[in-house]
Amino acid sequence: MANDPFAQFKAMQREGWALFSPLATFTTPPAAALVEFAGVSAGQNVLDVACGTGVVAVTAARRGATVSGLDLSPVLLDDAHRNASVIGATIDFREGDVENLPYADASFDVVLSQFGHMFAPRPAVAIAEMLRVLKPGGRIAFSTWPPELMLGRVFALTGKYLPPPTGIAPPPQWGDPNIVRERLGDAVRDIEFTRDDMVVPALSPAHYRVQMELTAGPIIKLIQTLEGEPQKLAQFRAELEAIAAQYFAHNRVRQSFLITRAIKR
Ligand SMILES: C[S@@+](CC[C@H](N)C(=O)[O-])C[C@H]1O[C@@H](n2cnc3c(N)ncnc32)[C@H](O)[C@@H]1O
Repeated sequence: MANDPFAQFKAMQREGWALFSPLATFTTPPAAALVEFAGVSAGQNVLDVACGTGVVAVTAARRGATVSGLDLSPVLLDDAHRNASVIGATIDFREGDVENLPYADASFDVVLSQFGHMFAPRPAVAIAEMLRVLKPGGRIAFSTWPPELMLGRVFALTGKYLPPPTGIAPPPQWGDPNIVRERLGDAVRDIEFTRDDMVVPALSPAHYRVQMELTAGPIIKLIQTLEGEPQKLAQFRAELEAIAAQYFAHNRVRQSFLITRAIKR
């Protein structure tokens, strides 16, 4: 792993996302939007890629689907197991990497990812794996942060202060419909898009910023990196709050996202 920048990056992601659980309160309503747009129904085999605490997986299970979930973070998977057990759902949660899915070809009727596969360093590898495990005629659907909107801009800001290693694609590229079309290519038909909002309650843009510093993987890493550079840290914080302020009203930060769905040929 010492010389593999992708393995190093994923090890950092695995550690960085371990504190994400409080944010799952806010990804819970978007999970319903994704499952609905994907048309998940009873009896289908469904995979939730980068499932975190299982908000999409549990939502799909409540529709009667047979669900598997996979994530890099064992800490979040513990929460996912707890979330499933509350409703007595049996979900096959596994620790793993979207770039190397531990499932046979054509295993699933539906493959989903909410704000998840977008963090894999190699988009072509991630999407090839997601399509490999999907049955022909099956549906792939994912939610992603557009580059020009709130969280896309925050990730760009984070990348400005802590540039990712060479060869790692910026996650919000997955929020651009033109790039999504290119990446899905001829492997799919009937690509459709919709949009929805994730609403995060906050007392002020500064409160929002503090919450992100405590829970969002890439920002946690950046704050650790800037520990010895107080001026730079203060500048980053000011820039983050300035972005959040543009989406803040009535004690809510409104974050719009893109949902994509398509059918595998
Ligand atoms: C923003 S969280 C979203 C979690 C969940 N899908 C939700 O909507 O609440 C991003 C998730 O992606 C996972 N992740 C990042 N890179 C991954 C990879 N290469 N393979 C699997 N999971 C990954 C993280 O561990 C984290 O749980």
